Amino acid sequence: MVLAVKVCIVGASGKLGRYMVRHALERGHEVVGVCRAKSVAKLDAFKGRIQIFPGATNDREVIRRAVQGCDGVLTVLVPWGHQQYATGTAQAVLDLAAPGARLVFSCGWHISRDGQDVYPRSLLLQASIFRWVTRLIPFADLADQEEACRRVFASDRRWTVVRGSDLEEGPSEGLPVWRRHVGDPVLASNRTRRIDFARLMVEALANDALLHEAPAIVGCRTKSALAAAGL
Ligand SMILES: NC(=O)c1ccc[n+]([C@@H]2O[C@H](COP(=O)([O-])OP(=O)(O)OC[C@H]3O[C@@H](n4cnc5c(N)ncnc54)[C@H](OP(=O)(O)O)[C@@H]3O)[C@@H](O)[C@H]2O)c1
Repeated sequence: MVLAVKVCIVGASGKLGRYMVRHALERGHEVVGVCRAKSVAKLDAFKGRIQIFPGATNDREVIRRAVQGCDGVLTVLVPWGHQQYATGTAQAVLDLAAPGARLVFSCGWHISRDGQDVYPRSLLLQASIFRWVTRLIPFADLADQEEACRRVFASDRRWTVVRGSDLEEGPSEGLPVWRRHVGDPVLASNRTRRIDFARLMVEALANDALLHEAPAIVGCRTKSALAAAGL
């Protein structure tokens, strides 16, 4: 039996967010969403089934109202935006979620919890190009997303940080496989369906094995995951 809980999805209007809304509703959870006011229409498909708090996800007053009474908070951490958007979002959730609430954050493989990840050269190159471009045109801030995750890792809240590989659209293949560190051969395919990333985020709410973990994920039907399973 799946226990119905009240879940807040911060960044609900994005692609990952909307998949999480779908999965959470399918599990019978009560869903509250936070998204930028200009993006509320992206959630029209869920009208009447979720409560929406429009506003910037780093607006502490919006987060305070949205997370009230929630057993779980799923937060999409993105490097987009300016002025410590990711840090402000993570800090607001860490400070304002109910005591004991399960907190699950999303990010990418590029975030390392302990420096033990071994990255493919393509990813290192991609990250350094991104940093260089965003220094010239400051539409995003990777360092801010890193700082947001550092604060989560240092917190004594009941957190999980799910680290996504490269993402693709398509029907679900099942729950992604995860490992503690990028560089593990299981993860070599570096590909996950976004719908399954969202599924793991929602599953993590009730999975204590993921508590205080930063799982790096890969699709369970990818070549590297199948090879590791002997298939
Ligand atoms: N894209 C990838 O290949 C990839 C790979 C690995 C991991 N990830 C991780 O997966 C998660 C979801 O990423 P996604 O790429 O799939 O994106 P997404 O689900 O479409 O979500 C993007 C989010 O960022 C918000 N956003 C966009 N521009 C913004 C701005 N200028 N200021 C503030 N917020 C802004 C969007 O809000 P609105 O709806 O209001 O626009 C939305 O909530 C993230 O945690 C990301 O780090 C992504």
